[in-house]
Amino acid sequence: MKEFKILAVVVFFSLVTYWGVEPFAHSQMHKHVEGNEFKYDGKADIAEAKVKVEEAKKAKKGVAEADAKLLAKQAFWGEVKQISSLKGDAVAGEAAFGACMGCHNGAGVNMGGVIPPNLDHAGSLYDKNYLIALIKNPAMASNTDHKFSDPMMHPMGSVSTMVTTPQDIANVVAYMTTKKVGKLTPKIAYMEACSRCHSNRYGKLTPLGETPVSFKTERDALAHNIKVLDEQDLIKKYMATTPPDLSIMTRARSEHFMETFIENPQSQLPGTSMPRTGLSEKGFEKVYEYLNETGDPSKSARAPLGIAVLIFFGIFTVLAYLWKKHQWHDLH
Ligand code: HEC
Ligand code: HEC
Repeated sequence: MKEFKILAVVVFFSLVTYWGVEPFAHSQMHKHVEGNEFKYDGKADIAEAKVKVEEAKKAKKGVAEADAKLLAKQAFWGEVKQISSLKGDAVAGEAAFGACMGCHNGAGVNMGGVIPPNLDHAGSLYDKNYLIALIKNPAMASNTDHKFSDPMMHPMGSVSTMVTTPQDIANVVAYMTTKKVGKLTPKIAYMEACSRCHSNRYGKLTPLGETPVSFKTERDALAHNIKVLDEQDLIKKYMATTPPDLSIMTRARSEHFMETFIENPQSQLPGTSMPRTGLSEKGFEKVYEYLNETGDPSKSARAPLGIAVLIFFGIFTVLAYLWKKHQWHDLH
């Protein structure tokens, strides 16, 4: 019976640590961030701007500027809401979309820091409201207006001179959401949304795209590596830091962290240079699926194995107990 008491004590303390101490320590070290369910309505940005106004009032410095920022955000997201209520004309939008293709043309040329991503699946990868906001003002949409005080400084800033009226914006977005292209696989979602900044070593992806399986000569392999390093230098200049490799990121971060971080990086790492990427719920699921594939490729094989192992231990425990009883039989 003594063994059972010891076991009970061990189990008790393990459970207290698992459900009590660890979550408590975690909640103290990382504040909980509420998600916004992939809705991009400016709620989080306006709340952030309000906090900044309060801080400015406390410090008695920069109150007028902080107030002006708050008003600008409220006005901006108000206009986005209005545009989203317009009915877009996808046919007219297709012509206007030509302006986007000037940069998003797959030529792989770095523009102001990154290579503009492929937009084939943008209509389902990104939230509709976010796309409207992005065309109106990419700095505001991606919550990087603190960095680009003049939106024209953003590498996509000039788009507002090409697609100008609210109706034009609604038309382009209508075209993007109705455009029929191939299936959105997890890998494509990841490549369109994240690859222009992040490498994924296990997925064999760099900001230049897929790394060829083999090179003809050693010289070709080195030349490719140099091209990747040059591109990473440009990204570093733009972001002030090299974005981390995402191969095993899902092992280091919870799904909740990833979700809220992608919705609004500033909510988890205030001051970070990663822009918001405006993914829709579906877009996030696909990207997350890909990150799980590269971070934990044997996950699907491991789950059934776990059950078999538990059954094995169950049988083994019974046998061990019977054996122990048998051995101690004469001594007790
Ligand atoms: C002047 C070049 C240029 C034009 C024109 C342009 N873009 Fe972009 N776009 C970029 C660059 C550069 C980026 C990457 C910016 C970054 O990651 O900071 C980008 C990023 C994007 C993204 C990803 C945004 C995100 O948050 O992940 C989408 C979607 C997009 N553009 C859509 C469009 C649409 C739609 C149009 C046309 C209405 C357009 N772009 C016109 C250069 C351009
Ligand atoms: C325009 C460039 C850019 C794009 C696009 C981008 N990121 Fe990032 N990301 C960064 C940078 C820069 C950092 C480093 C931020 C820092 O250290 O402050 C970062 C950091 C991260 C981190 C680490 C956060 C941490 O806790 O340290 C994760 C996770 C992440 N990105 C995920 C993604 C995913 C997923 C996507 C695609 C949906 C994506 N990023 C798209 C630039 C980008």
